[in-house]
Amino acid sequence: MRIKYKGINMKKVITYGTYDLFHEGHYNLLKRAKDLGDYLIVGVTSGDFDKNRGKLNVRDSLMTRIKHVEETGFADEIVIEEYFGQKIDDIKKYDVDIFTVGSDWKGHFDYLNEYCEVIYLDRTKGISSTDIRNTNTIKLGCYGVESVTTRFLEESKYVSGINIDAIYVDNESDCFNQLKEQYDFKVYKHQQEFYDVIDAVYIVVEPKYQFQAIMNALKHKKHVLVEFPILVTDEQLQEIIELADANNCVFMEGLKTAYTPAFGKLIALAKSGIIGNILSVDANFTQILGKQLGEQIRLVDGGSVHALASYPFLACVKLLGLDYKNIQFFSRDDNGIDMFTKMLISYEKAVATSNVAISGKSEGNMVISGDKGYIYVPAPWWKTEYFEVRFEDINMNRKYFYKFDGEGLRYEISEFIQCILNHKNSILLTIEEIRTITNMINQFNVANKVTF
Ligand code: CTP
Repeated sequence: MRIKYKGINMKKVITYGTYDLFHEGHYNLLKRAKDLGDYLIVGVTSGDFDKNRGKLNVRDSLMTRIKHVEETGFADEIVIEEYFGQKIDDIKKYDVDIFTVGSDWKGHFDYLNEYCEVIYLDRTKGISSTDIRNTNTIKLGCYGVESVTTRFLEESKYVSGINIDAIYVDNESDCFNQLKEQYDFKVYKHQQEFYDVIDAVYIVVEPKYQFQAIMNALKHKKHVLVEFPILVTDEQLQEIIELADANNCVFMEGLKTAYTPAFGKLIALAKSGIIGNILSVDANFTQILGKQLGEQIRLVDGGSVHALASYPFLACVKLLGLDYKNIQFFSRDDNGIDMFTKMLISYEKAVATSNVAISGKSEGNMVISGDKGYIYVPAPWWKTEYFEVRFEDINMNRKYFYKFDGEGLRYEISEFIQCILNHKNSILLTIEEIRTITNMINQFNVANKVTF
């Protein structure tokens, strides 16, 4: 039975949107939605929900977007949209008569006719949040080309506010020639000309050129995203960090797992105490080179530790902190190259182990053990979209699912853009964490290694 307000039947209308960079189209839509009834409920999407449905790079925070909707004076009530299927729940819960959205969604929400009337309102022509985001695009250049560059360019298409059409190379490798056939970009052979046309740079070069390439970019006052692993000395990294800071440049490491939605949730959950004190982290990342199995890795000087240890070290710094005590390496050495390495990282009150290999295979899962339970992340844990929290009493076990789209690089690119726009370094992989991971890798060159 319909509730009466001051003796009349009240018609309730509901509408949903992101309302990023609030514009005239949003205002018109809300005004017309209000005119459809007596009481307007506006659903504003949460950041997590937007990421889950593949909408990356929303600029305004949830609070700002809510404030803008509030300021129109049309909304009688504002709710936050957090999950798929919530519309049906809301319509039932608030006893809604009309669901409405813009005509860009025509047909998409017809399934709601079962619960209320569905009305598509004409969209205001010539304006959208995406267009506004794209008017001030960040011009990103690629410095160097390797196999990862293709994936990077593909994934960048899912992120708005970025434009990549400049590439710097000093030699035309096979990778470069393949890329040239697929994409339309301008090739630069002189650094000055390259830096004149871009705002930010994605650096993928051999380790021996990495330090110089990063420093040059920073000297040109460009924001830097450098593909992992960062293989410079601790002193060189310090120089890089100081220059980035002095020139107000964002400095970010392209270690994609750090920026994916599920990994962030996993870390937050583990640190919340759900499994008690963390006692150990066991995370492997192994590959057999030459076989196209799973993740394609970049070939860098050195072997397994240089190529892959950044990933387990990321898990260590995130879960156990920056103050590790000692790392031991047990390596299968083949002409000076570690083909397989088992690492043991000790902390004051915890320990981590990891197998990394460029010619060897282990299960690529991660187990985080605590004194109340453990978290199991199935392989490949570095592309996590699902994990389980498990206890002695199996009735308490819980499963968690998150979205992981494509290669996962889009989350990293999106974070880089947000950092540039917000003038701050990433909190998802902080400068201190980058410093510690680099330092851990450098231990391989100085630590007591056991080879076999
Ligand atoms: N809307 C509209 N006219 C526009 C833009 C949006 O009527 N020019 C409507 C949408 O149809 C939706 C609501 O406003 O009902 C909120 O839309 P939202 O997706 O937040 O805005 P967009 O500008 O479409 O955002 P984006 O470009 O990020 O998709």
